[in-house]
Amino acid sequence: MTILVAVRGWKPDHWIHALREAAPDRAVVLPGDEFDPDSVRYALVWKPEPGYLKTLPKLEAIFSLGAGVDHLTTDPDLPDLPVVRIVDPDLTGRMTEWVVLNVLLHHRRHLHYAAAQAAGSWKPLRQWAAGAVRVGIMGLGELGRDAAQALLALGFQVAGWSRTEKRVDGVDCFHGKDGLAPFLARTDMLVSLLPLTAETESLIDRAVIDALAKDGPLGGPVILNAGRGRSLVEADLVEALRDGRVKGASLDVFATEPLPPESPLWQTPNLFLTPHVAAESDPVALSRYVIGEIAAYEAGRPLRHLVDRHKGY
Ligand SMILES: NC(=O)c1ccc[n+]([C@@H]2O[C@H](COP(=O)([O-])OP(=O)(O)OC[C@H]3O[C@@H](n4cnc5c(N)ncnc54)[C@H](OP(=O)(O)O)[C@@H]3O)[C@@H](O)[C@H]2O)c1
Repeated sequence: MTILVAVRGWKPDHWIHALREAAPDRAVVLPGDEFDPDSVRYALVWKPEPGYLKTLPKLEAIFSLGAGVDHLTTDPDLPDLPVVRIVDPDLTGRMTEWVVLNVLLHHRRHLHYAAAQAAGSWKPLRQWAAGAVRVGIMGLGELGRDAAQALLALGFQVAGWSRTEKRVDGVDCFHGKDGLAPFLARTDMLVSLLPLTAETESLIDRAVIDALAKDGPLGGPVILNAGRGRSLVEADLVEALRDGRVKGASLDVFATEPLPPESPLWQTPNLFLTPHVAAESDPVALSRYVIGEIAAYEAGRPLRHLVDRHKGY
């Protein structure tokens, strides 16, 4: 049973190598290779060419090689097959590192200290305890819950916002449209780990930004986004950072990637950018994960972490 790997924008060699290591008995092919389309049962994909997957008549399951699935749900020709997404400690741990790093970057005023060092200037600022800062995580899924636990362990006050009602130890949980305003009103640092769906597109706009708490230790809110770029209205964030309504921001994801050279985000003050690397999909860890899921499926167990196409995540 052949496995097809279709990863647009990534180097396929690492995936082929890692999959052959994880499953030496299986054929692993790329879209450009010569192979019998009828032999392909599983496709491991990242941004596959729209319409390509429907050319594989015996395909049984599609594995999205990342936690996000908007690269698939936007394909109008996506075959009506189970879509499995990655839920793996390797990927989750990487995202939690990014969230903790960037919460601390702003909390510990490191953008200020980096600029002060570059200017050869000794400029200490007042430092608050983590317990004085209210972090609010949008998206209490696999990634949001893990980041919340790490931030709680550091002493931050943590709340979360999800679509449906949740209970998470130590986390003040809000949900749905009605829960958004009270969640924002108590949030000094907003962390978005939302998937991109029709409902979350452009969600973080001027109105949301202005509804965040203004009485926190930094004198205004900080915004972090590692979910999807199109959940945030970039122009509204740029304006708020320039006029000081937002004190700092970290972005890993952007409406257009790579971020175009002419984007004003490059030159916006108090903004730290990373090029969509918060939680990279590691070929070795994720190949082992997918091969394990395929083996369980072939042993008769149901596929896990299926995407709900109606919800879009
Ligand atoms: N930057 C990177 O490197 C990187 C890497 C991996 C993933 N990501 C992004 O991170 C996202 C989250 O991953 P995950 O594994 O945590 O996903 P997940 O387990 O599916 O969790 C998604 C969370 O978002 C909430 N949500 C969805 N739509 C909502 C809405 N309209 N209003 C309020 N809450 C909503 C869900 O609410 P319910 O709990 O009620 O369903 C859930 O809590 C991915 O979709 C991807 O876009 C980024």
